[in-house]
Amino acid sequence: MRELEVLIQAHYPLIYLITPEEERAEQAIAAITQLKPPRKVFLWTVTHGIIEYGRPRTLTQHNTVSPEAAIEWVVRQREPGIFIFKDLHPFIDSASVTRWLRDAIASFKGMNKTFILMSPIQQIPVELEKEAVVVEFPLPNMAELDDMLNMHLKNSFSRSRRLSTDEREKLLKAALGLTRDEADKVYRKAEVVAGKLTEAEVDIVLSEKKQIIKRNGILEYLEVGETINSVGGLTELKRWLEQRADAFTERARQYGLPQPKGMLILGVPGCGKSLIAKTTARLWGLPLLRLDMGRVYDGSMVGRSEANLRNALRVAESISPAILFIDEVDKAFAGAGGSADSDGGTSSRIFGSFLTWMQEKASPVFVMATANRVDRLPSEFLRKGRFDEIFFVDLPNSDERKEIFRIHLTKRREDIARFDIAQLASACEGYSGAEIEQGLVAAMYDAFAQNREFTQLDIIAALKSTMPLSRTLTEQVAALREWARHRARPAASMIAEYQRMEF
Ligand SMILES: Nc1ncnc2c1ncn2[C@@H]1O[C@H](COP(=O)(O)OP(=O)(O)OP(=O)(O)O)[C@@H](O)[C@H]1O
Ligand SMILES: [Mg+2]
Repeated sequence: MRELEVLIQAHYPLIYLITPEEERAEQAIAAITQLKPPRKVFLWTVTHGIIEYGRPRTLTQHNTVSPEAAIEWVVRQREPGIFIFKDLHPFIDSASVTRWLRDAIASFKGMNKTFILMSPIQQIPVELEKEAVVVEFPLPNMAELDDMLNMHLKNSFSRSRRLSTDEREKLLKAALGLTRDEADKVYRKAEVVAGKLTEAEVDIVLSEKKQIIKRNGILEYLEVGETINSVGGLTELKRWLEQRADAFTERARQYGLPQPKGMLILGVPGCGKSLIAKTTARLWGLPLLRLDMGRVYDGSMVGRSEANLRNALRVAESISPAILFIDEVDKAFAGAGGSADSDGGTSSRIFGSFLTWMQEKASPVFVMATANRVDRLPSEFLRKGRFDEIFFVDLPNSDERKEIFRIHLTKRREDIARFDIAQLASACEGYSGAEIEQGLVAAMYDAFAQNREFTQLDIIAALKSTMPLSRTLTEQVAALREWARHRARPAASMIAEYQRMEF
């Protein structure tokens, strides 16, 4: 908001303002222009042409519906002013609109005139890239939401009692990341549903936020039932995560600790990378947002993919502290960094914006990325300091396999004393956690089809009848291990690592 104020007061000729909140942005601009020296504000839309802000419709300037005519009208104005063009983006790529804009800006010298192109997505033709300053209009902060909540409580028909500071903060935090209209709606909804607006209604506010994240279509709000105890092995990784459980609290800041930025978990397929990433949200008590890179890419319009990414990151930031989970990041960014850009450089640009965001982000969004191939990841991604830590998850050793069996058997049967876990573990050397689970499920199906309880032998038979991936992908696994040996930290305990080397 401050940035916008500075740009307007410094008479920047062309500001591209990204926001879905037209009304709130208009109000903010109008407030800025009241300051010295006051400037008139005009609005253009393709439906009405140019009208003056805050004046009745009758003042519509005639024949300014077409973008070219509207820009020409702006050029002819002698007085200083702010000219807000709403949703010019569908027209901006036209040669004449671009040219008109460039000429108009050139004519603005010393005139105190400013174009503000307001639109929910960023679309700027190359010809204008140098002239335009892009600003994202921030979503409402705690203070603004607080004002709104106060108004609600004042006008409330309901029996809302006075809120304690703590309760109030919870209600406000739950609405962070929403636009003002959305927050307004959800507070009203909570009042209608519950007849009051208190701490107990936080869940209603949050559920609305989940809806919005769903509608956004790129981020997904994951609800994770499993805890970190359902992950076998990976002792070091778990310890690292447990140590940082309170890393996003005010207490940690006061202690002088930096906020963790993120981690990359590399490893053999099926060994629990995704699983541990998901359970971390539970452990840390933070919302888990999955960023689906596949949905970021959108070839329908130039700049669309970048806008998608920015949008998603902004939502993530606004509900932070949160964990941003990017599963299989090697697939998402394959193609970036390579010379063979099949998509006109989109993946490189997306990758670039993502790195910049990671570098600069001040908000407590912890990035948790997983990958199973390093050769497909651009090397900038793996550079030291990018992530707090890069962990390598290897195939489970015998003790870890025992633990994995114990976990998965316990999930399915109350009494597991009849199984010889040590024998099971030795029957599946080279198997991943996922393969162990699959073997167990296959054994259960076999027995179920024969209408009996499954046994130790069923499991061993099921395991023996499959070939673990590590045996078919020996080279790939070996290459990954070799790479990780010098550059990543083992996720397993030191002892497990030592036993592995003995082999
Ligand atoms: N260490 C483990 N402890 C317990 N269960 C495991 C473990 N590893 C894998 N599993 C089981 O296998 C399933 C699949 O594992 P997960 O998806 O986490 O593997 P991954 O490492 O992400 O594999 P990929 O590289 O293929 O994405 C898990 O949901 C879990 O049920
Ligand atoms: Mg996975």
